[in-house]
Amino acid sequence: MFVSCVATLRRAAVAVSATAATAAALIVLPMNPVLAGDVVDTHSFANSSEVRTTHVALDLAVDFAKKELSGHVDLTLERLKPDADRVVLDTRALEILGADASADGKTWAKTSFALGALDPVLGRPLTVSLPAGATHVRVRYHSRPEASGLQWLKPAQTAGKKLPFLFSQSQAIHARSWIPLQDSPAVRATYDAHIRTPKGLRAVMSAEMSEGLDATGRWAFTMPQPIPSYLIALAVGDIGFQAMGPRTGVYAEAATLKAAAYEFAETEKTLEVCEKLFGPYRWGRYDLLVLPPSFPYGGMENPRLTFVTPTVITGDRRLVSLIAHELAHSWSGNLVTNATWEDFWLNEGFTEYLTYRLTEAQFGKARGDMERVIGTAALKTDIGLAKSDDDKKLTRSTPAADPDEVFSSIPYERGALFLVYLETKFGRDAFDAFLRGWFDDHAFQSATSRQFLAYLDAKLLKTKPGLVSPAEISAWVSNPDLPADAVYASSDALAKVDAARDAWLAGKTAVTAMGGAEWTVQEWEHFFEGFPKTASAAQLQALDAAFKLTGSGNAIIASHWYKLAVDAGQTAAVLPAMTEYLSRVGRMKLIGPIYRALAATDAGRAQAQAIFAQVGSGYHPIAQQSVERIIKGS
Ligand code: BES
Ligand code: ZN
Repeated sequence: MFVSCVATLRRAAVAVSATAATAAALIVLPMNPVLAGDVVDTHSFANSSEVRTTHVALDLAVDFAKKELSGHVDLTLERLKPDADRVVLDTRALEILGADASADGKTWAKTSFALGALDPVLGRPLTVSLPAGATHVRVRYHSRPEASGLQWLKPAQTAGKKLPFLFSQSQAIHARSWIPLQDSPAVRATYDAHIRTPKGLRAVMSAEMSEGLDATGRWAFTMPQPIPSYLIALAVGDIGFQAMGPRTGVYAEAATLKAAAYEFAETEKTLEVCEKLFGPYRWGRYDLLVLPPSFPYGGMENPRLTFVTPTVITGDRRLVSLIAHELAHSWSGNLVTNATWEDFWLNEGFTEYLTYRLTEAQFGKARGDMERVIGTAALKTDIGLAKSDDDKKLTRSTPAADPDEVFSSIPYERGALFLVYLETKFGRDAFDAFLRGWFDDHAFQSATSRQFLAYLDAKLLKTKPGLVSPAEISAWVSNPDLPADAVYASSDALAKVDAARDAWLAGKTAVTAMGGAEWTVQEWEHFFEGFPKTASAAQLQALDAAFKLTGSGNAIIASHWYKLAVDAGQTAAVLPAMTEYLSRVGRMKLIGPIYRALAATDAGRAQAQAIFAQVGSGYHPIAQQSVERIIKGS
């Protein structure tokens, strides 16, 4: 019986009410299932318009030998449809052992469950029957070694080399690979967790750590604020802690702790600047966890505990805008959350805009503008790489099959440019008040693009008429091309880099006269972004000889350099160092461009496949999939 029900529920999933939606009548958006009427999360099987999770209680043991989390999850449910007789959860590659139901969360009785058909992107719906009066379900399960949201690291992949490490990455739809739950950003729940680890290893989560931890490997956590499932996070390893400020500190392996605490020492100040600009920080502490270098992202805004790549620890604090970005998510994303993955720009575009504002406030306008110029260059690159017009928009006409597949800087930088445009039109004071109002009025809620546009219409377009038309707004969100009146930043420092590069390439100056020895990482990034494909092998060799780029200890500079060398047909010269780099670093933004450059020729693609065959098992499952997509034969 469940099988046929599951089939009808497939992709029907989460409906959230779009109360403010109809008010946006003037702003024309394409009629698609996401933006028209009730919001449908096409990336979840959950029946959360009938039964909605309000609390998640985890009880899990960590087994490194089996690469398994095992135990159970208890879900507290609110029945929106009183006679609902089932709850549908999302799962991927989970081994479900049993299900129980309860009316009080204390006395449990077995209940029936069924796993539906496998969808290659979404996983399998798990339907648990709900007896009358049941408000809690318990699912007993264990994860599988291939869980897409977990990476199990061997000791050799850690800084300490002695003990294993585990970390989760739930965004966008990977929480379901380690917890059976309603895996939609439209559903918010509080959570608590009991985690058992092998002795000598510490567990940390995106939550408050309970007092009274003992040395036996038992750890307890509470997240009292309701959060979407993609923000549930866990890491286990030989992890130490160092305080940085009253509310800020850093967790890392012992070998990394000191350098990390130095690099990120300005975090407490950033937090203060944030509060001044965007309103109170509502999450208690703000700590960082430095992951091993296979972490597939730069940073992940897990509440109270941002996960961060070690590739930003460069010793000069020049890449701390990444921390500002993750911290800004405490407002845009964690406090006000995209209701579906089609609304991703509400999370990332806002956050990128806030990051530029933070960088400007903390380090001055020149540095903020420098970062904006680099962001816009990335946007233009990604618009050039986009496979369809839909991929260039802020709100797609057709939902993407897999949110991971369409990930790019477009929602980030186009979103930020849109907000810069609004700021310019309405003035900074009015726009700041508007933004604060958006966060306050939607705190701890999930919102759609349509809701944002309705709010914008009501609070700015209508109250300050004649400045921006609904048609102009529509062009920003749903035209593929960037509006002609976008407001771009400029940077004197980066213009100097352009001039130096061009003079050297034209043979007017020596490579050492460019001033590269004094450049910051941002100046190097800009230097590489504007590098022509026509440069000669001799020029590349001179560049490498002058600045020792092959084997550079700065992972960002190294990534650009290897890509450039491959683009210029100089792969052989960098191959050993590049292969070592690709075997160690798993951050997709750094390795993706190198694999993409290799895959541009047949011989290069074969080389990329050979390198991946050698090093790919060390990548996070999400990074493995991303690289496989890049290098697969066409
Ligand atoms: N939330 C994102 C990372 C993410 C996005 C994970 C989508 C999974 C799916 C995070 O806040 C982010 O944007 N990270 C950037 C940092 C940057 C823009 C400073 C990254 O990892 O590069
Ligand atoms: Zn982000």
